[in-house]
Formats: sequence, C-alpha cells, structure tokens
Amino acid sequence: MADSRRSAGLRGTCASTVRTPSGRCRKAKFVAEYQDRPVPSYDSCTFGIETVDEGRLIGLVGLGDTQHDIGTSELTVYIGETDGRGRGFGTEAVRLMCRYGFDRMGLRRIQLWVADGNAAAIACYLKAGFVEEGRARRTFRSGGVWHDMVLMGLLEDELR
Ligand SMILES: CC(C)(COP(=O)(O)OP(=O)(O)OC[C@H]1O[C@@H](n2cnc3c(N)ncnc32)[C@H](O)[C@@H]1OP(=O)(O)O)[C@@H](O)C(=O)NCCC(=O)NCCS
Repeated sequence: MADSRRSAGLRGTCASTVRTPSGRCRKAKFVAEYQDRPVPSYDSCTFGIETVDEGRLIGLVGLGDTQHDIGTSELTVYIGETDGRGRGFGTEAVRLMCRYGFDRMGLRRIQLWVADGNAAAIACYLKAGFVEEGRARRTFRSGGVWHDMVLMGLLEDELR
C-alpha cells in the first residue's frame, strides 16, 4: 500500500506475541478471545489488524452471525491500541473486511449496531459506505446517559 503510516493489513493468525499490560482487562479479554477463537470460516471470522510498517497488532476486525440463506453478516471492529486510533486504520480495516465478506464469503449485505455517541465509529462506517437504516432508541447506557443504538447497513455496490 502506498503510504505505510496509514496502511493496515489483516492477519488471520494468532496474536500470541501481544503483551497485555495488567490493568487493561478489557483489552486482555479481547485478545484472549481472539486467541481462542474458532478457525475462520464462512460463518464467523476474526482478523488481527497489523500496521504494515511495524507488523504491530493494533486491533481486531471480524464478521459474525452470518446468515447464509439471506447473505448477511454482522461487522465488529476494535482498535485496542489507543495510539492507533484516528490514523485511518479503522476505516481501512472495515473496507478490507467488507471486501472480503462480499468477495470471499458471498455476502449481499453487512450490518452493525453502533451507539449514537460513538462519533469516530460512525464517521468510519460512513466513509466506508454504510448508511443509517434505523434506531433502537435509548437502549444503551453510558455515563448515566441513555443513547440510541443505530443500525447501519452496507450493500455490495455501496462499499467505497
Ligand atoms: C471506531 C474505530 C474502529 C475507528 O477507527 P479509527 O482508526 O480510530 O478511525 P479512522 O482513523 O479510520 O477515522 C475515521 C473517521 O473518523 C473520524 N474520527 C476519528 N476519531 C474521531 C472522534 N473522536 N470524533 C469524531 N470523529 C472522529 C476521523 O476524522 C475520520 O474521518 P476523516 O478521515 O474524514 O477525518 C476506533 O476508534 C475504535 O476501535 N474505537 C473503540 C472501539 C469501537 O468503538 N468500536 C466500534 C464499535 S461499534
């Protein structure tokens, strides 16, 4: 990829070299789940997001809950290394994962739920071509405030 500072690669192998500093339980749990995940299949797959220049694992992206009869799957993405956020990696990983879903898994549609206050995630999804399709109002509580959960969807010809 042209600019290695803004390039991420997807890697399907185990993240066993990742250190998980104590106190960062959420990240440790996430990495542990990644290490124990089932072998990637067309039902569910999780990939590590590595920086191309350093080969450093900075996050995970995946598709799951696939319904083959209607060709849909649900996207998740997480940049666990906070210094990896806001540098374009999330958007690139989402684009790569969706392209994999459409080309390799035969999907017609990819969807996700995101809290309406998660501006970075929503911006990232919009850039990849997702559109808002609906809302479950006040179903997520954070910091004592109720938020809507936004349903976003992407059809194959909308990926950009
Ligand atoms: C959501 C997430 C995957 C986005 O990945 P990222 O690499 O940080 O995002 P990108 O750098 O690709 O940025 C995408 C867009 O969001 C914008 N953005 C980034 N941080 C932002 C913020 N805090 N507020 C508003 N917009 C923001 C960027 O400006 C960029 O748009 P631009 O290129 O037009 O400027 C990442 O921040 C993350 O893992 N967050 C925690 C987990 C999470 O929320 N996952 C999603 C659950 S639904």
